Amino acid sequence: MALYNQTLDKGTVLDVLGTTVEALERDDSATRPAACDALEVGSDDWSTSRDRLIEDLLEAEAWMERDTALATEVGAPVDADEGPEFMPSHPTFALLQSAMAEQLAVAPGSAFHPRDLGWLATVYHRLRARIGGKARFIEHQRLDDFRVTMPDRAVVALVSDWGAGNAHAVAVARQIALRAPDHVIHLGDVYYSGTPREAHTHFLDVWKAHGPSRSRYWCLNANHDMYSGGHGYFGHILPAFHQPASYFSLGNQAWQLIGMDTGYVSGSFTTPQMAWLEAQTHQPARTILLTHHHLLSAFRKRGTTLEKWLEPHLAASHLYGWIWGHEHHLVQYADYRGVKCRCIGHGALPYVPPDRLVRRHPAEIVRMETRTSPLDPDRGIHGFALLTFDGPQVFLEYVDETGDTSWTERWD
Ligand SMILES: [Fe+2]
Repeated sequence: MALYNQTLDKGTVLDVLGTTVEALERDDSATRPAACDALEVGSDDWSTSRDRLIEDLLEAEAWMERDTALATEVGAPVDADEGPEFMPSHPTFALLQSAMAEQLAVAPGSAFHPRDLGWLATVYHRLRARIGGKARFIEHQRLDDFRVTMPDRAVVALVSDWGAGNAHAVAVARQIALRAPDHVIHLGDVYYSGTPREAHTHFLDVWKAHGPSRSRYWCLNANHDMYSGGHGYFGHILPAFHQPASYFSLGNQAWQLIGMDTGYVSGSFTTPQMAWLEAQTHQPARTILLTHHHLLSAFRKRGTTLEKWLEPHLAASHLYGWIWGHEHHLVQYADYRGVKCRCIGHGALPYVPPDRLVRRHPAEIVRMETRTSPLDPDRGIHGFALLTFDGPQVFLEYVDETGDTSWTERWD
């Protein structure tokens, strides 16, 4: 199940939000008992449930208005509105988009009619995912937990922002399968909000149908995965991959890939991970850090949280490289504090090639992928990174959705 055009259209999503709020505010007493039934709330809880739903939707609308005003002011896309397709980094919008997709799946021709109690119930139950709380974070017991070894010669595919289930995701998965890597690591984001249903239809099912059959799979946690509380990620993806936790190390004598969770607390780490990371950096192997969120970007606002958490490791030169996603481009940034920095977020979600965008933040770009996709001449090409470990060296090839190579490099 790919993403729907309606759910990716900003005007449609905002219209649906507006008419849904209107219907809830109207609170028609004639239909209230039926609404209580549809939403599975008692009449005593109706006002509270309705008010909470309205509050969440209006807060999201206000957030969007603030960002739209800012975009007008600076004359450039802002973080809420970075793509041609509407995929804002806001939990309520992501959950609303999940609800719209569920409605379209059961009733493809139907609009999101505010008097349709089935639609209201779907919205309500989706947004309630936030009230239900997050999935439990899995912590290590010992400092050598979550460590897996790989041979000195091994091939690892890294792909990010790939959980869209669209034609690009299928094309990228097929290209990864052709390279038959030992491991496949997804750097996070299953759209729209990482619900259990989306964890299957936009992620696990697509790997099963088109991905390599003999690889071991891994997945990092990310913002979209957490918008529904992380239940799809922790409850479905991790068990399917036999992955013990949302942070892990995969390494050999010379190198270790360390995947860290920056989704559970969005754009940050969690305290337990840091003690574990500290222990991993005592290994003689060189460390390549993998996260969903970015250390820096020329196009997107950069927080300083990750850098602050990692300050001791940066100061001690513990990190050789850092590869992230979140932003939907393929970019090689100049070394930052001695760390090789790469963004590989061009896994599947349509994006405008970065050479057409205004660079709004200080981050030196060495090279970036600017070609367009064969499936859409107005959008950038998609792909993944293939890392071939060979003793003290690692060869990196950035492969696109057609099987061609964007560029290669060697780290040693
Ligand atoms: Fe993201």
